[in-house]
Amino acid sequence: MIPAFLSFSVCFFLLSSSAILPVFSRSTLPTDPCDAANQPERRTLRADQITVLINGYSEFRIPLLQQIAATYSASPLVSTVVVLWGNPATSAQTLAQLAHNLTVSSFGPSTISLHRQHSDSLNSRFLPLPSINTRAVLIIDDDVEVDAKSFEFAFRTWKSNQDHLIGFFVRSHDIDLSTKKWIYTVHPERYSIVLTKFMILDRRYLFDYSCSGGEAMHRMRRIVDEMRNCEDILMNFVVADRTNAAPLLVGAQKVRDWGDARNDASSIDGRWSWGLKEGEARSMVRKVGLSSRGVEHRKRRGECITRFHKVLGRMPLRYGYGKLVNSVGEQGLCMKGGRLVFCDQQ
Ligand SMILES: *[C@@H]1O[C@H](CO)[C@@H](O)[C@H](O)[C@H]1NC(C)=O
Repeated sequence: MIPAFLSFSVCFFLLSSSAILPVFSRSTLPTDPCDAANQPERRTLRADQITVLINGYSEFRIPLLQQIAATYSASPLVSTVVVLWGNPATSAQTLAQLAHNLTVSSFGPSTISLHRQHSDSLNSRFLPLPSINTRAVLIIDDDVEVDAKSFEFAFRTWKSNQDHLIGFFVRSHDIDLSTKKWIYTVHPERYSIVLTKFMILDRRYLFDYSCSGGEAMHRMRRIVDEMRNCEDILMNFVVADRTNAAPLLVGAQKVRDWGDARNDASSIDGRWSWGLKEGEARSMVRKVGLSSRGVEHRKRRGECITRFHKVLGRMPLRYGYGKLVNSVGEQGLCMKGGRLVFCDQQ
């Protein structure tokens, strides 16, 4: 469904055919993940388990990162947990220690491995590493804890909706009619963007994002590097463009969001969850509105949407409505005042 406000047409074309530069230098990797020879065959990928990719950057948050990695590694649904370390300033000694600590703390059936990113490009969090041996991939930040039941429910939801992006945290694009520019916002009843605070997707989209799409994808990945932001929005563009469909929002029972120390604005932004009670959500939105950093953050994200649209020449993002909730768990959901709440809150 295409909302009416998209109907004013904006035609953008690629302005020039400048030389294509790789935005991250894949050649420095021991194996080029975009080389088809290094990609596992799809039929060999496991369908019953998921690979967890955690983005790590802040040294001061290592204890939390370790706790999150250990929790996922304990799940029988998880094949491997890969910590993608993106901070180039971290010493080799600290990383060796972290790698050791991760090995020690990995209990349960899956292993935890540490992968030092060869580039500090935000694009590299989506590299289709040859070691990812499952169809499903969970991408998370190092600051969000989710209860095991919600994780299981999200993975189950993905299994029956494998083309879609699945997540607990969503945002929207919209058009500002006065400036005719795209904006990044929160709508109470619909959404079009899943955040990488918790995002499940098919492995093939990592390849699509990093390795295919020709010059348009090159240009859009370069925008991510210039803006030092918006890789998550670009992934939403990639998937929506393939599927012509909206992402799916799944309801989580317990989410603890510690915020993002790298970018305070995004943490203010990020704490707004559909899992919050109505009053809490409203006061959170108010706080976001009052914070100038929050405003700046959203402006930059809107600019990314505008620039991606310009390169692509179309707006692939689609709206989804409603939220999938796990009503068969022990924790039932009840209607109260027109809203779904956990029955024990009745
Ligand atoms: C590793 O674990 C030791 C012992 O718990 C701790 O002192 C150290 O800070 C940890 N280092 C890293 C980098 O995880």
